[in-house]
Amino acid sequence: MTFVEAAQLTDVPEGGVLAVEIDGEEIALVRDGSDVYAIRDECSHASIKLSEGDVEGCEIECWLHGSRFDLRTGKALNFPATEPVPVYPTQITGDVVMVDLSADRS
Ligand code: FES
Repeated sequence: MTFVEAAQLTDVPEGGVLAVEIDGEEIALVRDGSDVYAIRDECSHASIKLSEGDVEGCEIECWLHGSRFDLRTGKALNFPATEPVPVYPTQITGDVVMVDLSADRS
């Protein structure tokens, strides 16, 4: 596992999204209480940024056609998307959110 620094925890809004780029990969960080999820910032249905969608609990919704994705698994929860979106392990070290891009969990 290779965790790299992604953002300051305080920059990730509670119940919201922060779009970041790590090693050329666009990632959406989502904070739900003390948990922070990391998901590739691209809907699997078309090339739309998930970070521009809405978050509810541990789900993120694509604004274009309304597919929702489970932030824990990346699984598409409703049509039209059918393919998962890669998700990555996170850890909080002090005030810093760390992400391991080498470990796609979807
Ligand atoms: S582009 Fe995301 S559901 Fe269609």
